Order: sequence, then C-alpha cells, then structure tokens
Amino acid sequence: MTTPASARALHPDLECVLFNEAEIAAAIRSLAEQIARDHVGHDVLLLGVLKGAVHVLSDLARELDGLKPGPARVYLDLMAVSSYGNASRSSGEVRLIQDTTHAIEGRRVVIVEDIIDNGLTLSYLNALLSARKPLSLRSAVLLDKPYRRIAGVKADYVGLTCPDEFIVGYGLDYQERYRTLPYIAKLRPDIFSDPE
Ligand code: IMP
Ligand code: MG
Repeated sequence: MTTPASARALHPDLECVLFNEAEIAAAIRSLAEQIARDHVGHDVLLLGVLKGAVHVLSDLARELDGLKPGPARVYLDLMAVSSYGNASRSSGEVRLIQDTTHAIEGRRVVIVEDIIDNGLTLSYLNALLSARKPLSLRSAVLLDKPYRRIAGVKADYVGLTCPDEFIVGYGLDYQERYRTLPYIAKLRPDIFSDPE
C-alpha cells in the first residue's frame, strides 16, 4: 500500500513545507514546456549540476521526452561544482569537481540547476561552457531566490520563485542531508548554524 504524499509526516528538523510534490511536478512540467518550445526539431543536451539537480534533471528529462512539438532527441550529462561546502551560505568561490562527458561545441545545451541564489554558480558555468562554443546555451532552474543576487545573471527558465529562506529537499541539502525528501521545506533555524 502506498502512503499519499499529504499523509507523510513532516521531518522533525523542518519547519514547514514550501512546495509539495504536486507543486514541484507542475513547475517541472512548465520548465519542460518552455524548453520544448525553444528546441523544436533540434537535439538538446540537458546538463545537470550535481548533486542538487539530480531529481530536477531526472523528472525534467522524462517530461521533455514526451512533449510534441519538442526536441528531436534529448541527451543527458552531468557535471559537479562546489560552492557551498557544508555551510548554509556561499563561500563565494565555485570549483569544478567533475566535468561533462559530452563535447559541448556545436550543441544546444541547457544547464539544469536546483536553485539560483547569489548567481555565482550559474555565472561560473555560463563562462566555462560558453568558452566551448555551444550552438546555444540556456539555463533552467527549479527555484529562483532573486534577493541576494551578486552576479548579474538570470536563468532562462524558472520553475518557482522561492522565499528568502534556507530550504532543503528534492535535491537540496544542508550538510548533505535531506536531499532525498520528495518535497521542498524550510529548515528549522535552530538546526543550521549560520556563519553570518
Ligand atoms: P548560488 O551560486 O548562490 O546561485 O547557489 C547555487 C547553489 O547553492 C545551489 O546549487 C545549491 O547547492 C546552493 N543553495 C542555494 N540556496 C540554497 C538553499 O536554500 N538550500 C540549499 N542549498 C542552497
Ligand atoms: Mg548544496
């Protein structure tokens, strides 16, 4: 017997759910529809950023695959960067941990991210990947936190605008925890140690 999402007890470290499974699914669907419209008849490479974007990439790829009119073929790749370490604020430094396996040159690429916050990660990826001469380079984020943006960067496709709170779940972590939750929730302030 399956337990309905609404009956699942909230994890004790969490204050409240911000986006439930249905809201996340609708946002992913909207991202897929926007990406499909911009890539009709063309191959597209969805490039997920580990580890936070794993669920977004997986759900988005399967939504996009069925959409007509839409891309000819959908390819997947992954890269890993680190910006936060184990803290709840960015260190301001982005490092490439794992590169793509596909060549980027001449391809239509969509970077897939869990969240854009200060924008340093996305601006780093935009610079890194555009130097490899893709045919087009766009970015899709499930969540946008526009409040602390440092880098003048915007995602091309945004699923949901997120309150200025530290959130976890659906790929997002605090100290590598809570990534496996199917919903997005606010972490209880007493659980995380904010260095600011
Ligand atoms: P940016 O470089 O500040 O735009 O941050 C992007 C990355 O920071 C994301 O891929 C997340 O890993 C992380 N991040 C930003 N905000 C949150 C949050 O509220 N919870 C968990 N991780 C976050
Ligand atoms: Mg993280």
